[in-house]
Amino acid sequence: MVQLSEGASRIYGEAAFEVLAKAQELEEQGKNILHFEIGEPDIETPKNIAKAGIKAIQDKKTHYVPSIGITELRKAVQDEVEKTRDYRPDIEQILITPGLKPGIFFSMLAIVNPGDEVIYQDPGYPTYGSVTSFIGAKGIMVPLSEKNEFRMNPDDIKDRITKKTNLIVVNSPQNPTGSVMTKSEIEAIAELAEEHDIYVVSDEIYSKMTYDTCHYTPTARDEAKERTVLLDGFSKYYAMTGWRLGYMVAPHTMVDRLQNFLVSAVSCTAAFTQWAGIEALTGDQRFISDMMKRFKEKRNRIVKGLNSISGFHCLMPKGAFYAFPNIKGTGMSSQECSEHLLYKAGVAVLPGTAFGPYGEGYLRFSYATTLENIDVAIKRIQDSF
Ligand SMILES: Cc1ncc(COP(=O)(O)O)c(C=O)c1O
Repeated sequence: MVQLSEGASRIYGEAAFEVLAKAQELEEQGKNILHFEIGEPDIETPKNIAKAGIKAIQDKKTHYVPSIGITELRKAVQDEVEKTRDYRPDIEQILITPGLKPGIFFSMLAIVNPGDEVIYQDPGYPTYGSVTSFIGAKGIMVPLSEKNEFRMNPDDIKDRITKKTNLIVVNSPQNPTGSVMTKSEIEAIAELAEEHDIYVVSDEIYSKMTYDTCHYTPTARDEAKERTVLLDGFSKYYAMTGWRLGYMVAPHTMVDRLQNFLVSAVSCTAAFTQWAGIEALTGDQRFISDMMKRFKEKRNRIVKGLNSISGFHCLMPKGAFYAFPNIKGTGMSSQECSEHLLYKAGVAVLPGTAFGPYGEGYLRFSYATTLENIDVAIKRIQDSF
């Protein structure tokens, strides 16, 4: 009998898309559902960026381009990293990818062997665990505790390092908790990696989405030249999720391998999308501060609302656009509570366990929606208990 590969059975999906499908099924039955499950800004790509993409298509930027990206965008990324991270990578270190996600996949494929140990946050973005499992490596989870405001504690990483540890994945600002690690925590991770000769992949997709705090990168220590890989992208803070555009800054020794993954898997990132990316990086940046001002208002509103629900308790997140309330007081599991909210209140959210076992007792709300929807959702949840 024909059989699919073992590796294919080890890779897994994302609950956000499963909950979205359930919510849409209810909508088809005529139910009104408020969406808090999908992690993308609820606004359109800024006009200047969209226009640059349209112009690029009209200018026939519709052919294959170098698999590592067009030089003009790579140079813009070089300037961007210098501006935002205080070091200037060499142009050869920069690769353009179709969204940030291929950067996770390819950097992990380039670094991790079957049997290696990979350290990552739990709860955390599911792709890290999925790729670890696909490779046949072992995921070593660092539990995030509410007491530490869901920030990964470098001492917990230290306790988990063994001879087999080959990679630490860092994500700050973090999905799903909205936590933002401090400068000293980020520096401690970079030091540990150096001391134990371990790679670090830093997923910084929410780098420009912090409230009253700053974002730090573990890649500053070696300027992504030895053991760290910086991943960032345009999806979230330029509201470009569907354009598929991201970038990697990687050590010279890794770049050829990464380029081969890109050639083999995608050939290249769409040329016109890259031209839109140049406009995003070099054009007016007020879009981001305006968006973050509105997100802050929404964050404050939803956290206050969630704290008014009996059995719920919610910390004030410092980044991204997620709230991660503790729902242990309801007596329900995360799965039961998320289903209760969907079927009894018409509010679609994700169970914390969609992000790992330590997400039990929590829910993730993506508050990229209107203030009105937030108010209605809170009222419906209050009435549903
Ligand atoms: C932490 C994290 N990394 C990566 C991604 C995916 O980014 P992209 O859509 O650019 O591939 C997301 C999207 O939700 C995310 O939350």
